[in-house]
Amino acid sequence: MKYKTMIVVASLAVVAGNHVLAAGGVSANTELNKGKEAIVEAVAEQVEATAIEVVLERGAEVFDLCSGCHGDQAEGSEDLGAPKLAGQHGWYLSRQLNNFRAEIRGAHDDDEYGSIMQPMVADLEDQEIKDVVVYIGTLDANFVPEDD
Ligand code: HEC
Repeated sequence: MKYKTMIVVASLAVVAGNHVLAAGGVSANTELNKGKEAIVEAVAEQVEATAIEVVLERGAEVFDLCSGCHGDQAEGSEDLGAPKLAGQHGWYLSRQLNNFRAEIRGAHDDDEYGSIMQPMVADLEDQEIKDVVVYIGTLDANFVPEDD
């Protein structure tokens, strides 16, 4: 092989090699990106799961106070005049809690049961109302206490 031909062949080989490398690089990057996407997705799922857990934990804490009258499963107690909350729409619960807190409900002298309930939410923060409503939404709406 002549010297010049050797140089041409060698350069062609380098160019071809670069193409292969470049092609390999692209597919490796695609794999890498897929890997990254999966990680980002997994992290997002984890963050969401943690956020839900945190909300439910805080909601359960607030609900400790409520269960005394409304029952552990928010099944209600006719004896105490405290209605069932489990299975109720979240938006309705929120509205009633906000109404009690703002004394739109439970502030009238003749409102015997409302005035028992009103002080229970008087000092709750917005976030606590949201959290407890989410928590109530997880309770078993079909729960029936044994003595019923
Ligand atoms: C001391 C007992 C008692 C406690 C504690 C209590 N409640 Fe009540 N709750 C009542 C009574 C009684 C009523 C019924 C009011 C009425 O008849 O207007 C009521 C009504 C409600 C209502 C309105 C339901 C509807 O269908 O309109 C909601 C919502 C509610 N309570 C949520 C809660 C939450 C949340 C807590 C805890 C932060 C709580 N309650 C704590 C006694 C209580």
